[in-house]
Amino acid sequence: MTLPLDPARIQQLAQQFGTPLWTYDAPTIRERIAALKAFDTIRFAQKACSNTHLLRLMREQGVKVDAVSRGEILRALAAGYEPGTPGQEIVFTADLLDRATLDTVVQHRIPVNAGSIDMLRQLGPRSPGHPVWLRINPGFGHGHSNKTNTGGEHSKHGIWHAELGAALAEVKAQGLQLHGLHMHIGSGVDYSHLAQVCDAMVDLVKQVKAAGLDLQAISSGGGLSIPYREGDPVVDTAHYFGLWDSARHTAQALLGHALHLEIEPGRYLVAECGSLITEVRAVKDAGRNHFMMVDAGFNELMRPAMYGAFHAMSLVPQDGAQRPLQPTVVAGPLCESGDVFTQGDGGVVQPQPLPPAQVGDLLVIHDTGAYGASMSSNYNSRPLIAEVLLDGGEARLIRRRQTVEELLALEQGL
Ligand code: LLP
Repeated sequence: MTLPLDPARIQQLAQQFGTPLWTYDAPTIRERIAALKAFDTIRFAQKACSNTHLLRLMREQGVKVDAVSRGEILRALAAGYEPGTPGQEIVFTADLLDRATLDTVVQHRIPVNAGSIDMLRQLGPRSPGHPVWLRINPGFGHGHSNKTNTGGEHSKHGIWHAELGAALAEVKAQGLQLHGLHMHIGSGVDYSHLAQVCDAMVDLVKQVKAAGLDLQAISSGGGLSIPYREGDPVVDTAHYFGLWDSARHTAQALLGHALHLEIEPGRYLVAECGSLITEVRAVKDAGRNHFMMVDAGFNELMRPAMYGAFHAMSLVPQDGAQRPLQPTVVAGPLCESGDVFTQGDGGVVQPQPLPPAQVGDLLVIHDTGAYGASMSSNYNSRPLIAEVLLDGGEARLIRRRQTVEELLALEQGL
């Protein structure tokens, strides 16, 4: 749900920190965490937003963390997460182990959630008894776009369900310690298939038992959607938990002991807390289209260009005047036609009703806390922008703006 807008605060933040600017609202994150507290473990998929200050906030709230690269492991460590097995504060999830990451998970004995049998083959000889999860592709998936559907035969993710037997045999052969089973079938999903996912998990647990192995935990993965548009469904977290809890109970009855139930959301925890504050720098008309040009581009917020994703927007006029809305195409400064924040799948321009803007007005792009800053790039030699954490009345800089000099330094003195 789009956060209520306080125009004076937005103007003050833009003045103090400059634009474009990412902001995150801490109380909203705490609220979302509280809504999932029925799960034994909430494991934050930090790919959604990996700023170490947010990770620290998560840890203070008892949230554990998922890492998908060596960089994300080092971020979790920098934020105070304990590596190692007992608390499983950090789990590494991937479909392959590059050499440097293999060294790091072995060094810190970070549990590995394996999406391929080769990962088990590479880990076993290096780290006897290493704790592993198996990420299973159940043969079907869902997502808000084909690019975020992570199940089914077109997906590169997870161990194919029919290969579970082979994966379990490899776990045994390598002397690894099976800790849990994991499924994440897509992001931004609808929930009609949820019972099917839970049934698939129970079936997998049966196979583990039949293979003479045991496990301590199951993970429902992430994928919880948020209402980007007015009228989008809001996930019923109690219902969501109820279905998974019932699958857990069935699995417990099969195994004859308690099972730990995890959830691994990214978007749900952070999307709605975040805004991207931009400044309008030009307005123009082209045929039937009215363009509002802002100082952020898809190098900052990639979701519309990448998935045709929708983000609600609000104009903060300098004079505070209310004006009638007009269909508006919001575009950025990049040298590319796809640099448009109002577009559908396939790049078709989809104007949004916004008040006419003047240069110097601010445009707030909402619900950008997930997959906003974490997907930014330096395209067009644009430095990464600043991030600010809002907590009550406080606004704290949690990442300073990168400079062009820092970019150039990577290429100098070689
Ligand atoms: N667990 C695993 C193994 C994942 O691959 C992901 C997301 C998550 C959890 C968290 O999913 P979430 O709860 O955030 O849906 N860039 C795309 C989303 C890509 C998600 C990739 N994996 C977007 O902007 O929509």
